[in-house]
Amino acid sequence: MTATDAPDPAQPRVEGTLKLTGAARYAADHRPAETLHAVLVGAPVAAGRLRGVETAAARALPGVVTVLTAADLPDFPELSPPSAVQVMPFTDDRIRFEGQPVAIVLGESIEAAEAGHAAVLVDCEPDTPVLIGSGRRAPAMGDDPVVFDKGDVDAARARAAVRIEQTYLQAARHHHTMETSATVAQWEFDQWDGDRLTLWDSVQASSTVIPVVSSALTIDADDVRVIAPHTGGGFGAKGYIWPHEILAAAAARVVGRPVKLQLRRSDQFSDVGYQPWMEQTIRLAADADGVLLGVEHEVVNNSGLVDTHVEPATEASKSLYAAPSIRLHQLLERVSLNVPTPMRAPVEGPGLWALESAMNELAESVGVDPLDVRLANFAETSPADGRPWSSNRLREAYEEGARRYGWRTRHSRPREDGPWRIGHGMATCSMGSFRFPGTARVRLSRDGSVVVESNVHDIGSGAQTVLSQIAAEELGVPLDRVEMRWGDTDLPRTGPTYGSSTTMGTGSAVAAAARDVQKQLADLGLADALDAMERAGIDELVGDGSFALPGGAQMNGDGEGTPYAMRTWGAIFVEVGVDPDFGVLRLRRAVGVYSAGRIVNPTTARAQMTGGIIWGWGKATMEESDQEPVHGRWLAKNLSNVAVPVNADIPSDIDVAFTDEFDEAASLIGARGIGELGATGVDAAVAAAVYDAVGVRVRELPILPWKVLAG
Ligand code: MOS
Repeated sequence: MTATDAPDPAQPRVEGTLKLTGAARYAADHRPAETLHAVLVGAPVAAGRLRGVETAAARALPGVVTVLTAADLPDFPELSPPSAVQVMPFTDDRIRFEGQPVAIVLGESIEAAEAGHAAVLVDCEPDTPVLIGSGRRAPAMGDDPVVFDKGDVDAARARAAVRIEQTYLQAARHHHTMETSATVAQWEFDQWDGDRLTLWDSVQASSTVIPVVSSALTIDADDVRVIAPHTGGGFGAKGYIWPHEILAAAAARVVGRPVKLQLRRSDQFSDVGYQPWMEQTIRLAADADGVLLGVEHEVVNNSGLVDTHVEPATEASKSLYAAPSIRLHQLLERVSLNVPTPMRAPVEGPGLWALESAMNELAESVGVDPLDVRLANFAETSPADGRPWSSNRLREAYEEGARRYGWRTRHSRPREDGPWRIGHGMATCSMGSFRFPGTARVRLSRDGSVVVESNVHDIGSGAQTVLSQIAAEELGVPLDRVEMRWGDTDLPRTGPTYGSSTTMGTGSAVAAAARDVQKQLADLGLADALDAMERAGIDELVGDGSFALPGGAQMNGDGEGTPYAMRTWGAIFVEVGVDPDFGVLRLRRAVGVYSAGRIVNPTTARAQMTGGIIWGWGKATMEESDQEPVHGRWLAKNLSNVAVPVNADIPSDIDVAFTDEFDEAASLIGARGIGELGATGVDAAVAAAVYDAVGVRVRELPILPWKVLAG
C-alpha cells in the first residue's frame, strides 16, 4: 500500500454506535435463566468485632431466597496478587473497615434483595477506628523505608546554594466508574467431570481473574471461564480482582443457581479500591542556577489494616531529572479503611504532584523560568541507572507546548479578566512504560473480511478501534471489513487493560499475527491475496502473533532486561482564573504535548489525553474522598456528595499534540503508552498557575476555594 491510499488514521470508535444506542452489552446485562440477585451487607462500623448477623427477618420477606453468612461460605485461603486483598471478608470476626461484607442477601429480584438487605441486623462490638493521619507508619516493604539510594544526598544538601523542602498532600479519591463493578456467576455442576464456572465480569484483566478465583475457591483454573464484554469504565478500580467477584461465584455454588452481584453505588466506596490519601515530602538541593545536586522524596500512602497497597510515587523522582544523588523512601500508614488500589494515573501521577510542585518552587527560588529549570535538569539518560532512553522527545514537547501556549510571552498578556486574576503554570508529565506479553490471532477470509481475536478489554478507551486499525493497515483492507473478538478468556491470552499498555502490547501481537497471515499469503506465491486463496481452495488463513518480553517476563515497567530505559513524556501548560474574593478557580486553557511513541489513532489518542487533563483538573481542584472523623467511614456514599468536573467546568480550548515518533525498542508497532500520561502533571501546573495568579501556594489537593482564601 502506498502513502497516498493509506486510510486516515483518525477513525471514530468502531463501537460508538453500539454505545450510543444502548446496544452494547455489559457484564450485568447478562442474565442466565434462574439468576438470583445478590446484595452485600456491610459492617455498619469501621472497627470492632462481629458478634452476629440476624437474618430471620430478611429470610421471611417475599422474594428473598436466602441470606448467606460466614457459616455458609467456604473457608477462603489467604490470597496473593492480582487479588486486591490478601484477607477475604468472612474469614474472621474482625471488622477492619465500614462496609466490610458480613452477609450476602440473595433474592429473586433486585428489589427483594434490597429489601432483605434492609432487614438484616448486624450485631457488632465497636472499637475506635484508626483515622488517616493517626495510623502507625512503617516501611512499605521490609524493614527499611529507603527503596533507592544513589550518590550522597546529604553531602549534596550540605553544599547546595538552594534547598527546597516541602510536604505535599493529596486526598483519597474514588474511581467512580459509570458502570459499577459487577459479576454474574454461573456454574455447571457435573459430578464426574467436576464443576465448571463461568463469570461475566466487569473487569480490566479477565485472564487474571482465573488464578485468583480458582485459588480462592480451590478449583482447577481450567474450569473457569471469564467473559468480559464492554467494560463501563475502569480507571484501575477493575484492574485487580476484588472480593465481590469471588463472593458471587461462591454464592452461586452454595445456592446452585446463577448469581448476579452488581455493586450498588454506595458499595463501590468500600468494596473496591480508591487512590490512597498521600503525604509526600520533597527535598531538593540545587546550585544557584537551579541545577539539581540532589533529590530526596518520601512517600506515605494509607493502606488497610491488613491488606496492602503501596503507591510507589517515588518512581517519579528516580526517572525524571538528571540529579547526581537521589534517595527515595516509601512508607505505609495503616488505617481503618478498605485497601486502596492503582487509579489513573497511579505511581507518577501522585509522584509528579509533589516533584513538579517542588520544581516550580525551586524555579521561583532561583529566579529562573520553570521551563528553563526543567531544561537545565534534562536527563539525557535514565537517572536511575544510566541506560539510554528507547526514545525521548521531551525537549520537543517542551518547545512545542511552550510555542502553542505562548509561554514565553505569557506575562505580557492581560493579568485580569473581569473578576478573574489570571495565572499560568506548567509541569512535566511522565509515566513508566508498562509492557505485558500478549498474543493475538488474525483470520483472513476469502471474501476479504478479517477477524481479530485477542482477550483485551475495551474500558472506553478505544482499544477495539485501534487494534482493528492495526490489522486493517497491516493487511491493506478497509477498517469496516475487520471484526474484533475480545473480552473472553477462551480467546488468545493477552495483557491487561491497565498501565496504559494495551495498544503497545496487544497491538504488537495483532500486527505480528497479521504479518503471519501475510507470510502465508506470500508462501502461496501470488500477489493478489484473495485470488491466491481462491485458487488454492483456502477459505481462511489464520495467523498467530505474540508480543514477548525479555526473559519471558510477565511485566516490564521501564524496559528492564533491554538496553533501554522506557518512559513516556510530556509537558502541560495551563491558564487558570482565580476569583480573589471567593477563591473559585476556572480552567481557561490547557496545552499538552506528549512524547509517547507512534500514535496509532489521533482521534482516540486525543480523547485519551483530553480526558486525562480533565481528570487532572478534577484531582487538582475538586475530588476528595474523606474519612469521616468520628466513625471512620467514607463520608460520601453516593455521587451527590462527590465533585468531579462536568462539561461546564471545562473550556473548549484544550490543545493536545504529540511528537512525531516511532519507538522500535518499545514495541513492534512503535508505540509506547498514552492512556494515563495525560493525567500526570496537571495538578502541579494548576497549583503553579494559582500561585502565579494570586500569590498563594497551595500544597494540599484538592485546591478548594477556602484554601485559596486562607492563603
Ligand atoms: Mo490504570 S490505574 O493502570 O487502570
